[in-house]
Order: sequence, then structure tokens, then C-alpha cells
Amino acid sequence: MHRLTRHLFLAFALGAAAHAAPADTTATFFPPADLMRVGVYYYPEAWPAEQWPRDIANIRKMGLEFVHMGEFAWAFMEPQEGRFDFEWLERNVQLCADQGLKVVLCTPTPAPPVWLTQAHPEVLMIDADGRRMVHGTRQQACWNVDTYRRYVAKIVDELGRRYGRDPRVWGWQLDNELSHYGKEPCHCEACQTGFRNWLQKKYGTIGELNRAWGNAFWSQMYQNFDQVRIPNPPEDVAQFNPHAMLDAQRWFAATAADYLRFQTEILRRYCGHHQWITTNFMHDFGAVDPALSGRDLDIITWTIYPAHGNLNEGPLGFRLGSAATLSFAGDFHRTINGLHGIMELQPGQVNWGDVNPQPNPGAVHLWLLRAFASGAKFVCTYRFREPLSGAELYHYGLVGSDGVTITTGGEQYAQAARELVLLRQNLQPDAKAPAAYAVRRTALLYGREDRWDLDNHKQNIRWDTYGHLLKQYRALKRAGAPVDVITEDKDFNAYPFLVVPAYQLVDDQLVQRWKTYAEQGGHLIITCRTGQKDRRGHLWEGPWAAPILDLIGAKISFYDTLPAPYTGRVRTPNQTYDWASWGEVLEPREGTTALARYDDQYYAGGVAAVTRPLGRGTVTYLGVDSLDGGLEARLIRDVYVRAGVAVQQFDDGFLVDWRDGFWVATNFTEKNQTAPIPEGAKVLVGARDVPTAGVAVWQE
Ligand code: GAL
Ligand code: ZN
Repeated sequence: MHRLTRHLFLAFALGAAAHAAPADTTATFFPPADLMRVGVYYYPEAWPAEQWPRDIANIRKMGLEFVHMGEFAWAFMEPQEGRFDFEWLERNVQLCADQGLKVVLCTPTPAPPVWLTQAHPEVLMIDADGRRMVHGTRQQACWNVDTYRRYVAKIVDELGRRYGRDPRVWGWQLDNELSHYGKEPCHCEACQTGFRNWLQKKYGTIGELNRAWGNAFWSQMYQNFDQVRIPNPPEDVAQFNPHAMLDAQRWFAATAADYLRFQTEILRRYCGHHQWITTNFMHDFGAVDPALSGRDLDIITWTIYPAHGNLNEGPLGFRLGSAATLSFAGDFHRTINGLHGIMELQPGQVNWGDVNPQPNPGAVHLWLLRAFASGAKFVCTYRFREPLSGAELYHYGLVGSDGVTITTGGEQYAQAARELVLLRQNLQPDAKAPAAYAVRRTALLYGREDRWDLDNHKQNIRWDTYGHLLKQYRALKRAGAPVDVITEDKDFNAYPFLVVPAYQLVDDQLVQRWKTYAEQGGHLIITCRTGQKDRRGHLWEGPWAAPILDLIGAKISFYDTLPAPYTGRVRTPNQTYDWASWGEVLEPREGTTALARYDDQYYAGGVAAVTRPLGRGTVTYLGVDSLDGGLEARLIRDVYVRAGVAVQQFDDGFLVDWRDGFWVATNFTEKNQTAPIPEGAKVLVGARDVPTAGVAVWQE
């Protein structure tokens, strides 16, 4: 055992300092010199025991460094209530240890055994149509039911007792992609009660709830909390109440975070912080908010399947995936508590898309190196073997259906693993981010609540909240900026540039923080729809978006939205762009400069974007959502330029970032790109000419 690890272990065993600071987690489990570890999912319970040694040995031969096991194996760990069987797992953990592979173990709680749900059907979730879900797939149980929590506590405790102090085990994944795969929220009685209690705590009196929900309209008045139910659109005759919906979304996400905390606390009794704990969040899954678990988990991990056939990202998007999506997800999850990893990355074709095409040659390697560029501490691929039976038929693995032949995805994992060894050998431990890159440091403010509220009422079906965020994000990456996607609890002043896209729900305090940020020298970029509502989701009794008008130095006279197939035009002095989903007509006051104007519609000549100095900084407001993000790319680049910061002009989809002393260029575009490699640089992977799906890594 490593000395530091043993020290923590003893401290914990003596009952001291069970909750070490995350800094210890970094040093102990993710030493910077390791850069990024690569591993794979393996389901020993699904394969004959005589194949285990061969499979684990082959995982090692491919150069992988850890194995992930056990996430759905409850029926094997506890075949009957209270009777545990860990013999099969023990053998596999030891096989890994013998091969020098680390082990990631999981709590098997997304897949309750049939004896459990048969004895206690009340633990099964109820969907929007009032149907109780049944045994036969996964995530059918409701984590808010006490009975379910009792069984969960028992199996998690059992795992903790057996493996929570086991040096062969590197860390833990709780559950799997916490969700009900789109059927959430659950509508069972435990959830109804939970929601009411949550509301009572939040509002205190029913009168306060009635005001917050605007219940004076349509006689929606409640007389007491017992009358309130989780909003459920299939049961509503007319439009749902947007404030009730927003609260239900907040409540549901809070219960997911609470459930993770519940499992974490059990494991911590055994493992303290000498094994790390995480869960694998589905990237960009709306109903759960990873940011709520930043303090509970040691590292935030997420799952992504970049190529699954239904992407609208250019002719090769369905094979390459979306550069912006992958990169945004990395910048979001990393920023939550400073540590992130990808727990699932596809090795080849998946089986659950509308169509499931082959990834582009080289794409799997491209995604791995993109994960590296975004600071991931590890990447784990889903899955080692292609299944021969069950719900995931057709899903690729690192080896094919014969269990031994390495797939093209497998070859690319092996290649990335070799490259990481090379990078570790070349590590310069004290490397500092190059100055020209660091001065572009930008934060993008992102809140789940705003996204829920915007999506609950779009006002134009063509409005795409995530797409709008990504337009700003793409603009930043095209300029070559390092980006942190931050939540409100972070310090804005740590960044010279701050982008606030469509941040609809605000209070005076937040607007004041933005103001102070600019006054103190920050460059603030705000986009349309920001500040139009309070935190309850009410409009302001005053001018449109009242709290931000002083800040942006303009009034918002009105907004317009266009129905398909129509588009409007908006122009800067040099170019014209199309828009359709949302356009605000601004009235700049003195000292505020117009940057773009509408070019058609009855308000042609009206102002669409403005900028103004404020204190030592600037505030720029983009009141229109352009169709392809071209206007945003242009206006955001100008903000850097006016601030005297040199920027890149990369093509959308060609991403270049710096990490731990290495520059990494990844090409998701359909043409060759030129990596900005200076003369005399040491090129470790690829070359200056980067083909489609190609990668270059160099040191300056
Ligand atoms: C993920 C899930 C895995 C597996 C995979 C298949 O979303 O977490 O358990 O089902 O999809 O692509
Ligand atoms: Zn429930």
C-alpha cells in the first residue's frame, strides 16, 4: 500500500478525519503524472467462468489499466434476500490484481433482483400514465421509497464491508446513469409525499405556494399541501402550470442528489477517502443535475456515445459525433469540483440509436484524445465484449462476438493507451499554461433551472436552449479560448471573460454580481432571454427584463419569433446573418453602441446587439439567436479583440486545447486542418497536418 494511502487508511480506521479534502483525492488517486487512465467495463456474471482469466489477461494485453465491474449484478451478489455471494466477484477482482489492473466496483442498485420487487411491488416506480413498472429491464425502482432504500443500504453496506478497505479496489461508481430513462419523474405515493414535504419546507404556508405558482388564475388555489400532486401533463386538460413544473423539476433533481448522498455516506464508513466515489451521469440528461453532487462525490464522471446516427452536425457528424457537445460536457463536468472522467465512451456501433452507423475510422481515438484535452482523469469504455444475448445485442465491444478478436475500436483504445504512456514519459511536471492561451480564459454560466424553465415554455418551437448554449460555446472554442462551464456558486472574477447565455431566472443579487464583475474589469457577454423572470419564473412588474437593463445599457422594446419556414435577417457592418427562433429589438441609451441591426421585417433598422463600457470592463448584449451561430462567433470574437486579447480563428469543430504541458488538436471537421504547431515544438502524436478524425499532440 502506498504510504499516503496507508496513512489515510489508518486515520480512518481510528475514526479520525473521515472526510478528507478533495485535494487528497487528487494526490492519492489521480496524481498529475498519471495524466489519464484508460479502462473498460466487464460483466463477469454474463460470461462462463473459464473465460474470465483469458478476458482479463486480454484487457491487460491491450494496455488498459482498470476494469469496471458489478453495476447491475445485484441478483448475483444477493441471489436471495440476505444471502450474499461474492465468490465470483472476488475471483475477478483477484484476476485483475494479478494482472496489475485496478478495479472500479459499482453498487448494483439500478437493477433490483426479482425477489425484491416481487415481495415489495411498492418499490417499483409509477410513470406518467399511472402504470407501475415491472421487472425485466433496469431503473424500475423508485429511490424515494423507504423500503427500497433499506434494501439498497444493505447491499451497499455489504459491498463496503467487503471491499471498502481493499487496496485492489481503486474507486466506486454508485448506481448507473441515475434516471428512469425518460420515464421520470416517478409518480408513486412516496414521491407525492416527498414533493409535498419539499414544498412545505420551501414555502411554509399554502398561501405562499399559491402566490409563487400564480394559482389565482384558473382557480388553481390550494387549501392545504395535501391537495398538491406532482404536475403530470398527460393528466392536465390545458397548459401545465410553469411554476409548479419548475418546482417539480427542482425537487426531482434534489432527490437524485439525496439518493447519491445516501449511498455515499454508507460507503464512506468503510472507504473514507482512500477509495474515490463517483456516479456516471448521462451527459446532458435534463432531469438530474450533477452540479448538486459536487461536494458529495470525489470525482464527477459522465457517459457519452458521440456517434449514434441522429446528429445534425454536417455530413460526417453521424460518424464523428459533435465536437462541441463532447467538449462542452468535459468543460462542464470538470468544473463542478475540479476532477472529471468519462465513465462510458462507445467503442464502436451502439444498438439504441434510430440508426447505428459505424463511427468514422479514427473517431474512437479522436474522442479519447479529446477527453484527454478536456482534462479527464480517466476514460472507461463501454464494453469489453460484444454481448451475444440480452437487450444490448449489436452493441460493439473492444473485442467482437468471438470474445477475442480486437475490433477497430479496440485497436484505437490500445493505441491511445500506448500514446498515454508516451505522454507520461514526456511530462514536464511544472509546465504552465502558455500566456496567450491563459488570457482567453472564459467562463460560461450554466444553470439547469434556466434550461428547464426555457424548455418548459419556449415561446417558439424553433427555440433550442442547448443549441443556443452551444452557439456561444462554439464561438469561444473557435477563438481558441479555454472554457470552464460554471454554475453560480463559482467566482466570476477568476475569468477575464464571462458569457451568460439565455439566463432567464435571476435575482437582484446575481445581476449585482455581474455588474461588479464588469466594473472590476471583466468582459461580460449576455445573450437574449436573460433576466426576463425571477427565480419563481414570474415576469417582472416593470419593463421587459427590468433588472438587467441598467447593466446592458439598453431597453428591450419587444421580442419577435418567426414561424417555419421563414427566417429574418440581421446585419453587422460587414455581413448578414439569418435568424428565426428569437430576436429582441433593443433601444440603446447614450454611451451604448449598436453592433448589429435587423435587416428586414417591419422593424428593419432596429438594434439587435449592443456593447458598452462599464467601470474597467465591458458589457455586450446579443439580443438575437442566429440560425447557425455565425453572428455570435463574430460578435464574441470582437469582444476579445476590443479587449486587446489575440484570438485564433479555428473552423467550427477543430478544437485545440492545452493540458498539463501538452497541446492537443482534434479534428471533427470534414477537411484537413493545420495545427498551430510552432517551429521547434516536439510533436508526440500526429503531425501539423491533421486529417478528419485526426489528432496532434505537441509540447512547446
Ligand atoms: C449507457 C448505459 C450502459 C449501456 C450503454 C449502451 O447509457 O449506462 O449501461 O446501456 O448505454 O450504449
Ligand atoms: Zn416514486
